[in-house]
Amino acid sequence: MKFFIDTADVAEIRDLAATGLVDGVTTNPSLIRKSGRDFIEVIGEICEAVPGPVSAEVAATTLDGMLAEAARLVPIAPNVTIKVPLTWDGLKATKRLSQDGVKVNVTLCFSAAQALLAAKAGAAFISPFVGRLDDIGQEGLGLIADICQIYSQYETITTEVLVASVRSPVHVIEAAKMGADVATLPPAVLRQLVQHPLTDKGLAAFLADWEATGQRIV
Ligand code: G3P
Repeated sequence: MKFFIDTADVAEIRDLAATGLVDGVTTNPSLIRKSGRDFIEVIGEICEAVPGPVSAEVAATTLDGMLAEAARLVPIAPNVTIKVPLTWDGLKATKRLSQDGVKVNVTLCFSAAQALLAAKAGAAFISPFVGRLDDIGQEGLGLIADICQIYSQYETITTEVLVASVRSPVHVIEAAKMGADVATLPPAVLRQLVQHPLTDKGLAAFLADWEATGQRIV
């Protein structure tokens, strides 16, 4: 499973990218707002920090508007992925951009039917929002299972399932069991993945015993 980071905080991205475990980045207008920075500038910096796909989301809602914005965003760097909403215009833009060789991430997916349409339109990624479904009392991970099952029936579908709106390590692990291609993680969730109290406890005990031997390795 690939790990993307879901943030527009460049310092955070650089820090996590240094682990070598970050395969890409996703942003959205809310994350750009949170960063307080210029969109184009931030996307450029993120693309330099991470070699993998970096999703930059359009703000237009019409086909022509989305294509015009994509034309501004694509030249920023070769790893820019255009993120469009799951609307008819978004799907039309997906078709056009993917035919032109541009990678498209179709976002705000809340049903398997929507995911099927995105795949037919040629999306490189589909972003089903797990946490926001959980928030309204629907099982977000159930949607991931459905999409993985549907996509796996058709060899011609190359769209990657990008699990979004991830809130906890449980989301990541359950989605990985289902074979989801990518999870985009808030930095805090990525950091949580490494933690286990027994690891800390075990390490403390090993270090204490090692100290007691009085030895040094180097
Ligand atoms: O970028 C899309 C996504 O991951 C949003 O997550 O936490 O705002 O529901 P969240």
